[in-house]
Order: sequence, then structure tokens, then C-alpha cells
Amino acid sequence: MTVLALETSCDETAVAILRGDRSGHELFASEVASQIAAHEKYGGIVPEIASRNHLIYAPRLLDRAASAAKTRLSELDAFAATTGPGLASSLMIGASIAKGLAIGFGKRYLGINHLEGHLLSPFFVDATPSSRKSEPCDGGVASTMRAQGDIKPNVSLIASGGHTMLVAVRGLANYQLIGHTVDDAAGEAFDKVAKMLGLGYPGGPEIEKYARGGDPKRFDFPRSMLGSENFSFSGLKTAVRYLLPKIGVIPSEVEGSRGVTKEEFQRDPSTALRFAWDNKLLADLCASFQQAIIDVLVTKTIEAAQKYRVDLVTISGGVSFNQELRRQMRDASSRKGIEFKSAEPWLCTDNAAMIAFAALLRLRAGFESHVTEEIDPNLALVL
Ligand code: KG4
Ligand code: ZN
Repeated sequence: MTVLALETSCDETAVAILRGDRSGHELFASEVASQIAAHEKYGGIVPEIASRNHLIYAPRLLDRAASAAKTRLSELDAFAATTGPGLASSLMIGASIAKGLAIGFGKRYLGINHLEGHLLSPFFVDATPSSRKSEPCDGGVASTMRAQGDIKPNVSLIASGGHTMLVAVRGLANYQLIGHTVDDAAGEAFDKVAKMLGLGYPGGPEIEKYARGGDPKRFDFPRSMLGSENFSFSGLKTAVRYLLPKIGVIPSEVEGSRGVTKEEFQRDPSTALRFAWDNKLLADLCASFQQAIIDVLVTKTIEAAQKYRVDLVTISGGVSFNQELRRQMRDASSRKGIEFKSAEPWLCTDNAAMIAFAALLRLRAGFESHVTEEIDPNLALVL
């Protein structure tokens, strides 16, 4: 069976074509068009700009995916799309295209929960990095890769820009929510603190980059809600904000001041934040903040794995791209004799291959959606 999936839940337009049967899976195409540049100057995602760009990129990516897969859309067996959670006006575009193709070619349609895509992505193994997401429409084509269809029971940490949750996974479509964030998501905390520090968007990769070589113990940031299965990251963000003036740094969004990068400082020292010329301070700040997030994510995930008696921990979502998080989660798991699986780096941030993978597993298990099913911006993973 060969399925085409579209992912347009936020600001990334993505299309993938995946073939699978009992003996394995082959990803024929995975195309991602990033819109980061279009939204960067507004300091966040502008829904109307996202929708307009999805409309521009989706047809191009469909063409590219079909030619990469050396197939015609009419020859595919099913069409899938992310139907939530996400921005309503973005979700509608991918879902409408998938429904249109399914109706037009008389094929099956399947709506997929974006979080399930992330949650299953660590089982998409033997992947070859191929999908680049830098310039608009600068997608990539996967050659042959295999994916494992057996979903072993595990405790899954999904950490992205919109969500942070722990899920007990018993098998495909058999999920129990263990805990979730009561305020900011982990990725959101990275993005907001990066903004405060005058760094770029998305904040996670920026903070990870500046944290390299920094002292993670220099600043003692809070590790909130340890002892609970839920998460909270807004106190950590506030702790960073309160610390900055004490160390002579003005957060970029207060008092009409603005954050600057080191390069900007070098061009115009009068606008500088103090750490723009104090690399050590910035590195220590980023490392200490990153470590506070990692401590919370690792501690709660391992505790949940023990409580729910699973011998596998998986992590997925944009934040799971963080190398230090992956390393520390792997070490903590192995100390407890627990297996650890993370999504391949290129599958951590939003993409359509993970949606195609979830769709294929679900179609094979007998699931199907009706084209009258609507998108749901607040779609829950566990009903
Ligand atoms: O999964 P994703 O692409 O989109 C959502 O579904 O939200 O995740 C994006 C989030 C952003 O908040 C971004 O800052 C974060 O993932 N992120 C990272 C890293 N790369 C991306 N966070 C920490 N370290 C990274 N290397
Ligand atoms: Zn995501």
C-alpha cells in the first residue's frame, strides 16, 4: 500500500509518500518547505501568512514528491493529512487537499493526529537524513529507507513548540496520557527565553548552540513540579527574566530595549546587551537554562517508565532534536536498564513522513476517516 500524507498544522508545508507492507516500509519522498523566514520579522507565526504560503507550496511539493516517487498521484492507494492539533487555517489546507485527492481519485482518506505522528516517529528506523528545511521549497528526497511497524509498549515523551506530554503507549492507537504541561511547552520556553536574550527563532537550536561549552551549574534555575507527572516551564522562564537585570542584561522585550546578537553588537556597540560581548556569560546562561529543562524532562520520563513498568522510553518532537537531551536521556535510561529510542534528527521537527507512517500503520490496522470529518485545532491524542 502506498500513502501520500500532507502536514500543514503550523508553519511548515510538508508532503511525503510512503509505501509499506508486512515486510517493511519505503519512504519514496519527503518534502518540507519551511516558512521560518516569512514569520521571523513578526516574532511569531502569523496564521494568514502561514495559510497563504501553504497554498503556494503544497501544489509544488505534491509535484516534487510524485516525481521523486516516480509515480502519479492517481496511482496511490490513500491520502492522509494532519487534522489537529494546530492552527485551524493551516490544518484546513492540508486536510482539504488530501480529501480532494481522495474524492477525485476514489481512494481512502485518513485524518491523523499530529501528536501521534511525533509519538510514532522513533519507530521509523533506518532513515537516511534527506529532508532539508532551510529555504522555502528546499525539500529533499529520501531514497530507500525502512521503518519498523511494531509499536512496542513504551513511555513516550513528546516535547515540541506547542506540547510537552508523557504518554503510556501500549500499542498503535492505545495511548494513556500520563502528564502534560500546565502552562508553557518546553519548546515554547526555549523560544521565549531565546527572544529575551535577543537570539533568533526558533529558540531551541540557538540556545543549544550558545550552551555548548557553557557551565550548566553557574545559574541555579528552578526545576518545577518534580514529584508530579505534569510539567510547568513558565516559572523557569520568569526566573531567567528576573535574573537578567541582576547580571546587567536587559531582557530584549522590556523598557523599549532590544536584544542584539554578537554580530549586531560588533556593528553598533551602543545597542548592546552586556552578554553580546561576554560570550562566557551567554554560554553559561544558555547551558544553565537548557540543563534545567533537561533535568525535568529526563527525571519525569524515567520515573514514568518505572511506574508504568515499561522497558522502553521514546522521545520525539522538535525539542528532542537537542543533542544534550538525547545524550542525557540515553544515559539515564541505560543506568536503569531501560532501552531508549529517539526519532531520527530529521524526523524530530515537523514533517510529513511521520504523518505518512502513522497513516500507513493505521490503514493497515483497519482505520479510515470519512471525508466529512472536520479538522480540530484542539484535537486530543487521548479522548
Ligand atoms: O515539533 P516542532 O517542529 O513543532 C511543533 O509541533 O511545535 O517543534 C518546534 C519546537 C520549537 O519550539 C523549537 O525551539 C524546538 O522545537 N527545538 C528545539 C531544538 N530544535 C527545535 N529545542 C531545543 N533544542 C533544539 N535543538
Ligand atoms: Zn510538531
